[in-house]
Amino acid sequence: MAETQSQGTPTLFSPYKMGKFNLSHRVVLAPMTRCRALNGIPRPALAEYYTQRSTPGGFLITEGTSVSDTAAGFPHVPGIYNEEQVGAWKKIVDAVHAKGSLIFCQLWHVGRASHSVYQPGGAAPISSSNKPISNRWRILMPDATYGIYPKPRALDVSEIEVVVEHYGKAAFNAIRAGFDGVEIHGAHGYLIDQFLKDGINDRIDEYGGSLANRCKFLMQIVRAVAEAIGADRVAIRISPAIDHLGAIDSNPLKLGLAVIEKLNEFQLQFGSKLAYLHVTQPRYHAYGQTEQGKHGNEDEEAYLMRTLKRSYDGTFMCSGGFTRELGMQAVAEGDADLVSYGRLFISNPDLVLRLKVNAPLNRYIRKTFYTQDPVVGYTDYPFLVIQSRL
Ligand SMILES: Cc1cc2nc3c(=O)[nH]c(=O)nc-3n(C[C@H](O)[C@H](O)[C@H](O)COP(=O)(O)O)c2cc1C
Repeated sequence: MAETQSQGTPTLFSPYKMGKFNLSHRVVLAPMTRCRALNGIPRPALAEYYTQRSTPGGFLITEGTSVSDTAAGFPHVPGIYNEEQVGAWKKIVDAVHAKGSLIFCQLWHVGRASHSVYQPGGAAPISSSNKPISNRWRILMPDATYGIYPKPRALDVSEIEVVVEHYGKAAFNAIRAGFDGVEIHGAHGYLIDQFLKDGINDRIDEYGGSLANRCKFLMQIVRAVAEAIGADRVAIRISPAIDHLGAIDSNPLKLGLAVIEKLNEFQLQFGSKLAYLHVTQPRYHAYGQTEQGKHGNEDEEAYLMRTLKRSYDGTFMCSGGFTRELGMQAVAEGDADLVSYGRLFISNPDLVLRLKVNAPLNRYIRKTFYTQDPVVGYTDYPFLVIQSRL
């Protein structure tokens, strides 16, 4: 059970105690890749973007941030594996803290969702498998065209421990940059999900086959990161029911419950709670993200999310297609402790205020999601103008 909060039915605007962190509300900035970190170095525009979305006692999660030089699969994704990146992030984190928000860094390795253009020496991307992502999906290239995902190279068992170490080092760097914690990106068809899902993972060694084996890579990373920075600063994101980039599992609920069982066990053994578990809701499919154009109905989704929430022993964050009404409902009914908002937060820097006063929302412009302009489609969405009527 998550810690008991203030009296009465909670709303999106009730305070929440997330382990050692005190949040003043439950509207979280979801991690979102925005491709504005030229050559992997966060630049001042990111400070403007994140501070615009900061509120006293609020909580932000950064865009996916590369844990090593093989981790990127989009143009101009920031990294957290060298000193220049740590120094650049520090300025952004300091600016966010000055506005009173907490901020976690999302640790990302895309695995096979990459291309030789993003790899050192033009090498093949790494994965759990040699199977490429199907041609139904396309990769965004540095010149803004879309390419075909190439055949990846399955990691040898001996190489896996090096990748695990990269996560530990990246987490340590994140704390050096001043971040309050990290979120391990285990969702959406990227490297960790490529180990978790039986539609991709075809290994016959100790990392493939049974659910326990498929969870092993994630759990080694969780341990390495927790040992580097303390479990209470570590969060995990999963999306068992989402088939983005071909990440299909034959039994998403069973997979989700297996991960949760491992996380619960880990917390007991480690003697400390993790910061939170972040689960992307299948409703996200409704936005054209699904592999076969089919997805569960609302009742099936609610059952899946509720079962996961009730099984996890800690703070549970939901994401995916939340409106004000759905977020209020999820928190009031105990289906979420925290709700992360993505696209609505892109186009509404003051989303927290707008949701609070139930103000109209700016519409987001999809075509500038992944462009590099430091202002247009990034920090130029308007704030609410509250007219005082005297
Ligand atoms: C432009 C864009 C970039 C995203 N990048 C990431 C990312 O780096 N890491 C991640 O875990 N999720 C990423 N997501 C998924 C969001 O975190 C979120 O779960 C998703 O947008 C659904 O929430 P929404 O309906 O509130 O937008 C991205 C979504 C968008 C729209």
